[in-house]
Order: sequence, then structure tokens, then C-alpha cells
Amino acid sequence: MSNQLPMAGQTVIMCKRIKQNLWTVVFCALKMLNTLLKRVLRVRLCELLWCILVFVIFIVLWTFSDVKETSAKVTAQYPVILWWTLEFPGSSTTRTCSNNIKCHVYSDIEKDKYYSVGAYLFYASNIKFKNLPLPRKPKDVIWGLYHEESPRNVEELLHEKALSLFNFTATFSRFSNVPFPLQHLHSFEDITSTTYFVKTSIKNTYLKDISPIMYLQSDCETSTERDAYVQELMKVIDVDSYGSCLNNKELPSKFKTDYLNNLNEDEFLKFIARYKFVVAFENGACNDYITEKFWRAIKVGTVPIYFGSPTIRDWLPNRKSAILLEDFPTPKILHKHIEQLLNNDTLYEEYLEHKTIQTITNDRLVNEYRDRPYQLDGIKVIEKFECFICEKLHEKMNNQIGVNVVNKSHYDCPKPISALSLKVNPENSWVYSWEKAEIDAAKIYTEIMNGD
Ligand SMILES: *[C@@H]1O[C@H](CO)[C@@H](O)[C@H](O)[C@H]1NC(C)=O
Ligand SMILES: *[C@@H]1O[C@H](CO)[C@@H](O)[C@H](O)[C@H]1NC(C)=O
Ligand SMILES: *[C@@H]1O[C@H](CO)[C@@H](O)[C@H](O)[C@H]1NC(C)=O
Repeated sequence: MSNQLPMAGQTVIMCKRIKQNLWTVVFCALKMLNTLLKRVLRVRLCELLWCILVFVIFIVLWTFSDVKETSAKVTAQYPVILWWTLEFPGSSTTRTCSNNIKCHVYSDIEKDKYYSVGAYLFYASNIKFKNLPLPRKPKDVIWGLYHEESPRNVEELLHEKALSLFNFTATFSRFSNVPFPLQHLHSFEDITSTTYFVKTSIKNTYLKDISPIMYLQSDCETSTERDAYVQELMKVIDVDSYGSCLNNKELPSKFKTDYLNNLNEDEFLKFIARYKFVVAFENGACNDYITEKFWRAIKVGTVPIYFGSPTIRDWLPNRKSAILLEDFPTPKILHKHIEQLLNNDTLYEEYLEHKTIQTITNDRLVNEYRDRPYQLDGIKVIEKFECFICEKLHEKMNNQIGVNVVNKSHYDCPKPISALSLKVNPENSWVYSWEKAEIDAAKIYTEIMNGD
């Protein structure tokens, strides 16, 4: 290699040549690139056009076939029910109801584009009044409302104007179309079962270590002002308070983590059953809205001190299965009564006849369970409601349906009353928002019904 090294002069010429050649190569390359690019672009454009064409044809065919399929399958035979509110209940199916009538039920609002929907269903807690399937078309389309909760997150529904946008309901009210006032009674046998029941003589021995009354709440600001009441009660009698509201006692460490989700565990029920009384005040007061606070006390055999649903008396297993605030209108009067019961086991046990002699004398309660056993299971309630609406859609097809508009009796939550005064407390912020919601409800109604 070393003897082939070029001389200095030759090197300069060679460099020049290389430079020239380099320029030519670069020029050529650019030119080629240019032509290539042009061709590629042309080809790409062509391809693109083909692609678009194929895509459009595909979409058109797809849409057509879908519409054809639905018009053949759905509009002709089965009416369509669409859950408008997201995430509830989340399933889609073809329901077969009594007399073999059928409906398609969807939980996917995309379906709204392809089907002529006969009924929209709404899960009240997820309603967005700014996002509704409008226009309302009241003559053609049924709206159904499902709600199992107190109205703290959709206060508009406290008012008849907002309710009257709907035709049918499934709620806890006995006047609903698909009622479920016993939703929180997990099993009818729980009422008389003595699985957790602690005899009075044994409860008496526990009083060395625990208070006669238990309170367990972590939602402290409620429309019923339950904390204000319990605070007064604590001044005259000992109350063990384990939750974050008025806390004065620690839960045993085994319950500490996530106790709110373990309230129905065996161990926890035994823990509650040791108490003679449990404070069971609802966070909202609606007719027939009775929650686990009440039924859990009945189940384990402790006496609930109850405030909440104005219709609670209709659902007590026996005449005396709970101490109702309306009968003992101040903490002092209640205290006197509780002292009496603490000093006389016979009197105390009058409140526990569902356990001691295992009787239920309330026919309304027995009949409600006998006639509507589905209501103890939320999934079955949804199926019932879908079938109820399905039947209405079939009646409508046959022109057999009258006009149905939901009124307050389907979801009746009066202006909040304070547990302490048993009157409306104008200082309570829940009263203010109840009144504001009335104005909002009227506005929403007008907007929607005039929008057609
Ligand atoms: C306890 O109450 C019962 C029922 O009211 C009554 O008959 C009985 O005399 C009372 N016992 C005492 C010791 O006061
Ligand atoms: C459904 O409710 C709307 C709104 O109140 C009402 O205008 C309409 O007549 C009702 N339709 C039926 C079929 O009951
Ligand atoms: C409320 O609606 C029910 C039917 O859902 C009906 O029986 C009742 O009479 C209505 N009440 C009022 C006050 O209009």
C-alpha cells in the first residue's frame, strides 16, 4: 500500500475531481429524489383516493346493514329501552318479560344513533340536566327514573317539577311504579333470627364496659342535623361514638381499616349486638326511605333510636320495635324513657318481640315482602323496572296506554326537619339548597318542555 501513495500535485487534481464528482453525485441524487418524490406523491395520492373510496363504501355498507338489521329486528318486533345515564346498570340484553313480551335494553348511549328509542331510563344519582336526550318528544317517548338513594346529590328531584319530566319510576316509595321500600332488609328472616341477638341479662353485664347507646357515623353534616341531637343527648346519658362524628371511643383495631365497608361482617354485627340501643338517624328524610342503619339494628337485636323517614311506623316489625324521636321530642325526655328501660328489663324487651318471641305483627310489612320479594335484591329491581317499562311500550304500540306523569308521591322528601327541634331549621344549609333546588327544577322543566 505505501508505494502506491500519489505525489503532491496529483493529489490536488484528484481532490478537484472528487469535488466535481461529488457535486455531480449530489445533483443527480437530488434530481432522482425529486422525481422519486413526485412519483411517490402521485402514487400516494392515488392510493389515498382508493383508500378513501374503499373506506367510504365500507362505512356506507356497514351503516346500511346495521340499520337494516335493527329495523328488521328491533323496530318491527321489540321496542328499544336505553339507559341514558352512564355506568348504570351497564349491561345490555334482550329482556323477556311476562307474557313473553320482549324489549331490547341498552346501556350504551351510542345506540341512540341507530335505534328509534321508545323509552329512556335514568339513574337519578348520575343525571346531568345539561345532558339529556332532547327534544323530549313527550307523546312518543317514555322517560323512566330509578332512584334508591336520598336526594343529596340531585336535589332538583326533591321537587315535583323535575319529577314530572318522567312518566314512571322505580324508587323506595310505596307509590312508585316498581316500589322497593324494603331495599335494605337483606333477608326477611333477619328480622326474627337470633344469630346475633344477645339476651338482656347478658347485655346488662356489658354495661360495666360500654355505654348503653352506640353511635357510629362519619357523615356529620346532614339535613337531619343528627350530630346536633346526639351532642345534646351525650350531655345527659353516655353514648359510645366510634365514627368520626363526635368521636369519643376507638374501634377495636380489627375493625379500624375500612370499617364502612365491613358493617355487615359477622364480627361487626356481634360488636353492635352488645349494645342496648343504637342511634339510627337517616342522613335525609323521605317517605319510605329506610336504610341499613335501621334494619341492621333490627337484625342484630338492639333497639334503634330512630329519626328519618316520616313513615317509619308503617314498617316496624311490631308496634314497638324502635324508639321514635317524634314520641320523645327532646333529648331530656328521651333520656328519661331510656332510664326507665335500663331499669326494667320487661319494659326493655317489649321493644324486642321480633327476637324474644319471634313475632311480626305488622301486616303491611309481611304483605310487602310477600307481594314484592324482588326488592331485597337491587339487580332484580332493575330487571323488574325494565320489564315494567317494556310492558308499557307494548301497551303503547297497541294504543292501550294513558298519560302517566310522575308526581311527588313517587319520591317524597319534604323540607328537611331538624332532629333536635323536630321543625324546619332555616339556619340549616340543606334547607337553603332545598329551596334553591325548587327554583332550578322549575327552570329545567320549562326549558325541556318548551324545547320541543
Ligand atoms: C316493669 O315494667 C312492667 C311493664 O310495664 C311492669 O309491669 C313492672 O311492674 C315493672 N317492674 C318494676 C320493677 O317496676
Ligand atoms: C310522559 O311525560 C311527559 C312529561 O310530563 C308528558 O307530557 C307525557 O304525556 C307523558 N307520556 C305518557 C305516555 O304518559
Ligand atoms: C300521583 O301519581 C299516582 C300514580 O302514579 C296517582 O295514583 C296519584 O293519584 C297521583 N297523585 C296526585 C296527587 O296527583
